[in-house]
Amino acid sequence: MIRDIQDEIIRLKKEKDVCVLAHSYLSHDITEIADFVGDSFALSKKAAAAPNKNVLMCGVRFMAETVKLLSPEKRVYISHNLAGCPMAEQMTAEELKQIKAEEPDRKVVAYINTTAELKELCDVCVTSSSALKIVSEMKEDKLLFIPDCNLGDFVKRAVPEKDIKLINGGCPIHNRVTAEDVKEARKRYPNALLLVHPECKPEVVKLADYVGSTAGIMDYAKESDATEFIIGTENSIAEHLSIECPDKKFYTLSKKLVCEDMKLTTLAGVLSVLKDIGKDNNENEIVLSDEQIKNARVCIDEMLTRG
Ligand code: 13P
Ligand code: SF4
Repeated sequence: MIRDIQDEIIRLKKEKDVCVLAHSYLSHDITEIADFVGDSFALSKKAAAAPNKNVLMCGVRFMAETVKLLSPEKRVYISHNLAGCPMAEQMTAEELKQIKAEEPDRKVVAYINTTAELKELCDVCVTSSSALKIVSEMKEDKLLFIPDCNLGDFVKRAVPEKDIKLINGGCPIHNRVTAEDVKEARKRYPNALLLVHPECKPEVVKLADYVGSTAGIMDYAKESDATEFIIGTENSIAEHLSIECPDKKFYTLSKKLVCEDMKLTTLAGVLSVLKDIGKDNNENEIVLSDEQIKNARVCIDEMLTRG
């Protein structure tokens, strides 16, 4: 049954000239049919290079918007119309305008998990894998980092010479995990290394053996000589690693690490979106005005040049 749906998806991709990109938080049956799987940074680079006239982004809305910003000539679709990222939607453009007016001498660094509307007001974008490099190499010292104060805190500690103002926002899923959860997991799996995403609280990040993006965590686990790992990010990463590295053991840090928005996309849903590609008034198509694309692209281009 799964194989039949996958075969039909592969046939339709070819017939409709669609490049399918999938974030690694998607389930394995979906990542298997994708042309490229990765973290936010790698996906944005792939999106810019894809030769196809259509792109289907399996993930959440800000990722599909980033694809559209980088490839305005392509028709870009999101795998589920309601898949947003609560962190990306936390701050409004009006709120950011007000902070900028109060702090006019700060350059605005935006985590890529922001809406296109917010990106229009930012100077440079970063992802979890490029944030340290980009911020440490910026010539400006006074920065405003939005919207994730956990990733912001991680960067601030690594680059103490910069004056970085944080705003109180973050990922509600990674924020669910506590130092107590780490203590319990360490007790249960005493020989395992703890790998966490910098969207986790500082109290969790402090206890980790490795901190990195979703791709960083996967590469670390694959390349490490260690054989047991506790995975401190969305639980699908432990699922992919268990399949890709059958000789190693992967444990989830907490049952709470499930991104409900990412889970809205199913294999059957991907097939249904593919069937509708090319039809008029498609609610899964990402539509941004030329003005929005011109303005919001500035900080994405800065990221790609510096990253
Ligand atoms: P990555 O940049 O590591 O892919 O993370 C994106 C994300 O949404 C993590 O929650
Ligand atoms: Fe957004 Fe958090 Fe889900 Fe990542 S895990 S997409 S930051 S809500």
